[in-house]
Amino acid sequence: MAKEFKRYLVTSALPYANGPVHIGHLAGVYIPSDIYARYLRLKGCDVISVCGSDEHGVPITIKARKEGVSPQQIVDRYHELIKRSFERLGMSFDIYSRTSSATHAKTASDFFRKLYDDGKFIEKTSMQYYDEEAKTFLADRYIVGTCPKCGYDRAYGDQCEKCGSTLSPDELIEPHSAVSGSVPVKRETKHWYLPLDQYEGFLRKWILEGHKEWKSNVYGQCKSWLDGGLQPRAVSRDLDWGIPVPVEGAEGKVLYVWFDAPIGYISATKDLTPDWEKYWKSEDTKLVHFIGKDNIVFHCIVFPSMLKAHGGYILPENVPANEFLNLEGDKISTSRNWAVWLHEYLDEFPGKEDVLRYVLCANAPETKDNDFTWKDFQARNNNELVAILGNFVNRALVLTKKYFNGEVPACGELSDYDRQTIADVAAVKASLESNIENYRFREALKDAMNVARIGNKYLADTEPWKVIKTDPERVRTILNVALQITANTAIAIEPFMPFSSAKILKMLAVDKFGWERLGTFDLIPAGHMIGEPELLFEKIEDDVIQRQLDKLAATKAANMAAEAAQHVEPQKDTIQFDDFQKMDIRVSTILSAEKVAKTKKLLKLTVDTGIDKREIVSGIAEYFTPEELVGKQVLVLVNLAPRELKGIFSKGMILMAEDASGKLRLLQPGDTTSNGAIVG
Ligand code: MF3
Ligand code: ZN
Repeated sequence: MAKEFKRYLVTSALPYANGPVHIGHLAGVYIPSDIYARYLRLKGCDVISVCGSDEHGVPITIKARKEGVSPQQIVDRYHELIKRSFERLGMSFDIYSRTSSATHAKTASDFFRKLYDDGKFIEKTSMQYYDEEAKTFLADRYIVGTCPKCGYDRAYGDQCEKCGSTLSPDELIEPHSAVSGSVPVKRETKHWYLPLDQYEGFLRKWILEGHKEWKSNVYGQCKSWLDGGLQPRAVSRDLDWGIPVPVEGAEGKVLYVWFDAPIGYISATKDLTPDWEKYWKSEDTKLVHFIGKDNIVFHCIVFPSMLKAHGGYILPENVPANEFLNLEGDKISTSRNWAVWLHEYLDEFPGKEDVLRYVLCANAPETKDNDFTWKDFQARNNNELVAILGNFVNRALVLTKKYFNGEVPACGELSDYDRQTIADVAAVKASLESNIENYRFREALKDAMNVARIGNKYLADTEPWKVIKTDPERVRTILNVALQITANTAIAIEPFMPFSSAKILKMLAVDKFGWERLGTFDLIPAGHMIGEPELLFEKIEDDVIQRQLDKLAATKAANMAAEAAQHVEPQKDTIQFDDFQKMDIRVSTILSAEKVAKTKKLLKLTVDTGIDKREIVSGIAEYFTPEELVGKQVLVLVNLAPRELKGIFSKGMILMAEDASGKLRLLQPGDTTSNGAIVG
């Protein structure tokens, strides 16, 4: 028998306040958690859903330094942006808090102090990189050098963003400080460590034996961490941004961001309700953490060990972590601006909040990484939301208006088919519940959509628009059933698409129903007047999608140019002046250009070199059209030994610049110059 719980505490990973939220965050964490919390609320459960901004950590200080503002200014900006975007998307957090709050500083500080007083930490000194010029210890992120694996010269002390390798600062070639540029030295520093190795037995028993039902990606990651052997983890840092370590002699030290952030869930609950202990300290509470896969170790290993060390707190009952969402086949990346940003989507697609919620849930990376594409977004909107859900609701309402002036007709005798339809709708409930309760939100969404699908099919099969001519009484029953299905649809989709659910209820002119009414057919009484039908969804046209694709293409081009600008080939071996003198380079004008038949890359050019008019074959057809070349002045190496290409004698070479991305550009004299002018 599954354990019965009296209340639920739902947490969603606190987003870092150093950038806006994107679709990857939404699909991985926030959409699932909102569906779960809304479902429980609709069921009438005692549930709270907490979230907030994660406002500490090194990346925030780096960003602040880059922009020449304070870390507080950075977190204020993004906290507001994220909070507001979440609200606009209909996220139903009971509180959206922040880790720079006074409540949190006290909660996290007290938490640390209790573990300290109870002797749960070990103190260790170690050698860490120190910047003597800036007089500060350097977090791994602050040390930059050449990657030992791929040679990228801007790798960080914890990771190379080029090849993705995890690094330690000691591995970097020619490390230097990102703060001052100086070469860092090693200095001794003291920190507090949580000896995770001492919690291995507890974790094995609790997770590996006690929670075999966890998602396999989560369970598997925990197992491999545990099998690999746990090490003590430092819970403090030398940094001037964060919660001060509340211990004598710890000046200049703050709590490690991954120590304070999860305590943020507790602080947020405190800010929400004076009754917070009921949610955190009673075994009757089901605690569920919604996170992305990069957070698994912190939520399944580190935070539970902290809670265990502290004592008095419950542990999570489940940690349904998702995998990652890609965008158009590439990894979403904040630094490369490869993302669909929530606030931009909300601005560009007003009134389409539910479309995004729908698509991200339908595509959620529940068991493996998944891909978001704009074409799929369009197809799901047009073929599913418009064609199934919107179409059904609209037909039911419009026909009621048309035949009965908006008055809900009474239900007469039911046919076998009516009965079967009603049974089909009723059957959705159990499946939907089991899917949501087992964190299978994609399947759950299909169930919810099935209610509309059944309705759509019901109208198509019963054809009230034909029957009205012969048997208007029968149409009363058909539309009564259709309207009850419409109301059922509003219940079933509420956790997923709250705006559309509310819109259906408004069009039906009824109040919100509880979850227990799902599958019942007396939701709207005969004689009730419905409201005005409106379209629930509208078709998304190709040009709208193309604009998004163009935007991404522009981002990609900008990224490639930036990368190319960074990558420069090393200088070649020294030559003598005589070597250079041997080359005869002349200003020339391209007189004509045409593609060489049966080749992809070759153009045949006729150029006026001032000496003569001659033909040159050049492999540039992929970069230039013949039309754009004609009339251009270029530089030609005229004394290159001729060679035959596809039956044409090529006499010379057009000079070009090729960047790291392989893109070619013509080299041209700055001003119009006479043909034959010597370059040198
Ligand atoms: N800010 C972290 C991230 O975005 C998540 C923090 S979750 C918490 O990956 F539990 F630490 F709050
Ligand atoms: Zn590398």
